[in-house]
Amino acid sequence: MVTQTRSLLMSSRLVKIFLVVSLVAMTRSVAADDSIDAFLEEVKELVSRETEFTSETDAKEWLARTNVALAEQNNKAATASFNYATNITNENRQKQVAAALAMNRWSNAHVIQAKKYLSNSNNFAPGSDVIRQLKIFVQGEPFVSKDAALSRKLEETSSKLQVVYTDAHLTKNGKTYYIEPELTEIMSTSRDYDELLWAWLGWRDAIGPRAKPLFTEVVTMLNLVSRQNGFSDAGEAWRVSNYEFDNIESTTHDLYEEVRPLYEQLHAYVRRKLIQKYPGRGIDPSGGIPAHLLGNMWGQQWDSIMDVVTPYPLVAADNVTGPLQSYTAKRMFKMAEDFFKSIGLDPMTSTFWNKSMIEKPRDRHVDCHGSATDFFKEGDYRIKMCSVRTGESLNTIHHEMGHIQYFMQYHRQPSIYRTGANAAFHEAVGDTITLSVKTPGHLRAMGLLKTEKPKGDSGSENDEYKKDINFLMKIALEKIAFLPFGYMIDRWRWEVFRGQVTPENYNRRWWELRRLYQGLIPPARRTQNDFDPAAKFHVSYFIPYIRYFFSFIGQFQFHEALCKAAGHTGPLQKCDIYRSKKAGDLLKSLLSLGGSKPWPESMEVITGQRKFKTDAILEYFKPLHDWLKRANAQEHVGWKNHH
Ligand code: ASP
Ligand code: SER
Ligand code: ZN
Repeated sequence: MVTQTRSLLMSSRLVKIFLVVSLVAMTRSVAADDSIDAFLEEVKELVSRETEFTSETDAKEWLARTNVALAEQNNKAATASFNYATNITNENRQKQVAAALAMNRWSNAHVIQAKKYLSNSNNFAPGSDVIRQLKIFVQGEPFVSKDAALSRKLEETSSKLQVVYTDAHLTKNGKTYYIEPELTEIMSTSRDYDELLWAWLGWRDAIGPRAKPLFTEVVTMLNLVSRQNGFSDAGEAWRVSNYEFDNIESTTHDLYEEVRPLYEQLHAYVRRKLIQKYPGRGIDPSGGIPAHLLGNMWGQQWDSIMDVVTPYPLVAADNVTGPLQSYTAKRMFKMAEDFFKSIGLDPMTSTFWNKSMIEKPRDRHVDCHGSATDFFKEGDYRIKMCSVRTGESLNTIHHEMGHIQYFMQYHRQPSIYRTGANAAFHEAVGDTITLSVKTPGHLRAMGLLKTEKPKGDSGSENDEYKKDINFLMKIALEKIAFLPFGYMIDRWRWEVFRGQVTPENYNRRWWELRRLYQGLIPPARRTQNDFDPAAKFHVSYFIPYIRYFFSFIGQFQFHEALCKAAGHTGPLQKCDIYRSKKAGDLLKSLLSLGGSKPWPESMEVITGQRKFKTDAILEYFKPLHDWLKRANAQEHVGWKNHH
């Protein structure tokens, strides 16, 4: 009886498969790779519909197979993306889109199956890891869609928007200016108000109007897909898929409120220095700062204008740019690798060195924005970036290598868990390390800081204090200045996805938030035809951003914990964990978990705390905060229309 039912079932399956095969063969020219893959997926899904998706044992086997297949799928998608980003041609673009679509088909079929197991999981062992894997898998794929036409349109439109960003450039006197390295260099080194304005406006004009219709379409499609998958909108899909967080919006708000007093002090002090630097430009001493004067295209990190705002110019401030001029890109990467090795983490693999793109190639067009990719194949991890000889680049190298270290530490986990505890943890690894790298003690040991001879105030008992304040100012320009930016990008996008802000108000709302949180104003009139958000990489690439906000807070918690493990005593800002195996072991214990545990548990492993908290970052900057309050005694702290 059982046998007979089974064989009937088998034959009915075969009939269906045959039908699908003929149908697909008749209606589709099986040309592109993705349609073959898609076709196979349809067949597989059809076959698997006949199983019942009820037992935990089946689910386990299913997961074992799916984890293997997922690595294979990720490898294909990563390969196509990396090939495209490091050699932008139309052909590579087509391949990238095809690979993304194939991935979508595969994921969609498997998410459906995972959901079936989940809906039957009430009889699985309580707290079963099977349930967690299924959940993480489903959560990680909030934009899969059954609708092939919609997916294709979504991929193609996103891809076109990315092209607008990567192709954007300005020309002046026969010279071409891309965002990296040319415009980035102007923004960070030029002190000519009008030249800065030219670069700032030109970059936005080159992107905004072209990007806006594409961006708007992508928003609509992402919302559609998100709703099909049970989310209220794409913003919610992002929040859930990256965080396992309740109340991420109010948590962000509360954390930001805790650091706001420090930010406002920094802002007031920098504003005064800019008024002195650019007199007669109408900068309002109690208003917002024109957004193009902060050393960065987006006013997101201000450390490049350290020369303008150094608290004590007469005691030497750190500047690694000079010594870096004799470095090659490879040597900068080796320096980062050496730090990770010194705490007992792994060296980069030979594939890493052979296949990474560490400099801008001369023979082809590439996407320069720094990134790190896990290829889900033994030893295959790569970075792509266009490094130059600046401290900023050296940071990015450590940042990206932090991602690679995370990939390597969790590579033995099942594919579903080969991910960060949450997205912010992934962003925080390399940055945590740079908090040690940037200490004057470390830089001097590396030969990146000449033993400085104070130019004035020599021998004063305050010299050490002044150097500390200079140092903290430099780090604050990078880390504290970033926080409101890291917050407002997704504040704006959450509102966009929710439909609270409509396309005709996109740019107006953008600037409202820029002013409200960052205290920045546009240096020229903006209209609703402008679309300044798209001038930021992560907006045009639809990469969630709130991860960086959390990372910039969490990295100070991590730094504090690693310093404690390293036996550091004294002020947190002076800690350098170089060569501390104990710190390295603690870091490894976090990284090797990947996504296998809810992030508060991973957080607890390293810090003993289960939350993102501002105590460490506030303690780190306490001396500077006190100094700023005194320095700003006569200032209007804050800016008009603030609240
Ligand atoms: N992917 C990094 C960032 O976007 C690289 C960079 O800093 O450029 O987080
Ligand atoms: N790497 C991120 C960015 O470039 C955060 O610093 O925006
Ligand atoms: Zn990153």
